[in-house]
Amino acid sequence: MEKRRILTGDRPTGKLHLGHYVGSLANRIRLQEEYECYFIIADLHTLTTRPEKEYIDDITENAREMVLDYLACGIDPERSVIYLQSAVHEVYELNLLFEMMVTVPRLQRVPSLKEMAASANLNEMPFGLLGYPVLQAADILMPRAHLVPVGKDNESHVELTREIARRFNFLYDEVFPVPDVMVGDVPTLVGTDGNSKMSKSLGNAILLSDDTKTVEKKVTGMFTDPNRIRADVPGKVEGNPVFIYHDIFNPNTAEVEELKERYRKGAVGDVEVKKKLSLALNNFLDPIREKRNDFASRSGFVDEVIYNGTVKMREEARATLNAAKKAMGLTGIWNRISRKAEKARKARDE
Ligand code: TRP
Repeated sequence: MEKRRILTGDRPTGKLHLGHYVGSLANRIRLQEEYECYFIIADLHTLTTRPEKEYIDDITENAREMVLDYLACGIDPERSVIYLQSAVHEVYELNLLFEMMVTVPRLQRVPSLKEMAASANLNEMPFGLLGYPVLQAADILMPRAHLVPVGKDNESHVELTREIARRFNFLYDEVFPVPDVMVGDVPTLVGTDGNSKMSKSLGNAILLSDDTKTVEKKVTGMFTDPNRIRADVPGKVEGNPVFIYHDIFNPNTAEVEELKERYRKGAVGDVEVKKKLSLALNNFLDPIREKRNDFASRSGFVDEVIYNGTVKMREEARATLNAAKKAMGLTGIWNRISRKAEKARKARDE
């Protein structure tokens, strides 16, 4: 039996952080064997808020860094396809066809879009940003994926993708599977500043590529219980970012429980709790750093991975787009016109 498929990916805005890892990367790595995986470098999506040339000029390097993070975390390019969205022309076309399957009010209800507009300081909604989830649907349905492991913020986009797939299949023919969403164990990872979401643009992220010292520095500066002004004041563990991270990244649960107990009683200083967190995080990141350095030292390797993946994806994309156009009857229009034109020319030439 053919393997079921996954499509997911990220916008190439630079290096990935711990939030990406627990939100989606961990799932991708785990599911690589069971599924045929497609990972998109969604550079066209960055244009929805950042169309300026200066940002486009950064995409190449950002894509390389992001793919290095993928590989460092264990995404295997022998098994999975990693490709550059803007180099697969079929996606521009499928996007346009899908624009007909969705209404403007439906898109205006997608919660993430307003947030994206606001955080990009746009006071009016660009047409392309409103269409962000439609383009994402084109990505997901291009390899006819069955499953989409993403962070919580992307859940509503996959919901829309499902609606588009159903609508298309209903109007024309059963071309697309209706894909399921899968959100990671930690749907949204809190930032080091206590902000609800870790994000590079908010400056509260620990990057997968941060070195030991940087991690120590970021952890030392982390937000904890603001009411705890001294080590002997009982502290709150629940919702405390330092303990949220301990729970996720410190495999020594006995140590974590003991720290929590003393924290609640006011019998441990923040310094100790943070020192142990730095250690746990650095232990977690060490093998990732090592693999990252190894891949980075092989000149041209990352580019080759992207190149080969894109070539493979183009083949898939051509097949899907043809199937979609055929189901819609679009292929037939051109076929009839060109056949008749050819006949007419022949008749004239005789
Ligand atoms: N929207 C994703 C993000 O937040 C990027 C993305 C684009 C994506 N196309 C996708 C994710 C398809 C999953 C599937 O960066």
